[in-house]
Amino acid sequence: MPALPGIRACVFDAYGTLFDFAAAANSCRDVLGERAGALTTLWRDKQLQYTWLRSLQNRYADLWQITGDSLDYSLETLGLAEPGLRQRLMDLYRTLAVFPEVPETLRQLRAAGLKTAILSNGSPAMLETAVQGNDLGGLLDAVISVEEVGAFKPDPRVYQRALDRLGVTRTEVSFQSSNSWDAYAASAFGMRVVWCNRYGQKPERLPGQPDHVVTSLAALPALVCP
Ligand code: LAC
Repeated sequence: MPALPGIRACVFDAYGTLFDFAAAANSCRDVLGERAGALTTLWRDKQLQYTWLRSLQNRYADLWQITGDSLDYSLETLGLAEPGLRQRLMDLYRTLAVFPEVPETLRQLRAAGLKTAILSNGSPAMLETAVQGNDLGGLLDAVISVEEVGAFKPDPRVYQRALDRLGVTRTEVSFQSSNSWDAYAASAFGMRVVWCNRYGQKPERLPGQPDHVVTSLAALPALVCP
């Protein structure tokens, strides 16, 4: 019996969990040097803030616009105005690489008869480009964008959408996210949750409690495969 019994579908967050968002700034170290880390952190924090604030205001805009807006804010804050840098970073964000263990993990889950899906704040076009660019199309049963709901995580309707699309119940889903707040929200919603704590975050003081904490998705099949 696996540690999480009765799982029929593994649902993954995209950015930070499957795709490495730090790769964009890291690929511009020729221009950014040591400032790449600061840009990655501020850009990501601001991007998430804008998703939450826009959801609260009922003013949804897709994640591609928000990613550009948050990059503009971050470049101005850090005094980065090198010509062509913005375009280069946005182009890189569109084609972020997967973390190395992802394809084999998806293969093992599907070989064990589990469904696999992405549930992400990303726009359909962003997710499509990232999935195709990394040859993941054949390893996923569904790519679900919050655009179908018109609000961002952690709105419970987003997690519900995954159940509706996959035809499974809350406790039949193992949800994986490296974003602690996303992991806690999915747990509070009632899914089983494996928090892939790639970034060494501390436990949140929020509703929910991830069932397992791992540092790589390679640990997932042993937890859920029958
Ligand atoms: C996503 C962000 C939260 O892919 O990482 O939904």
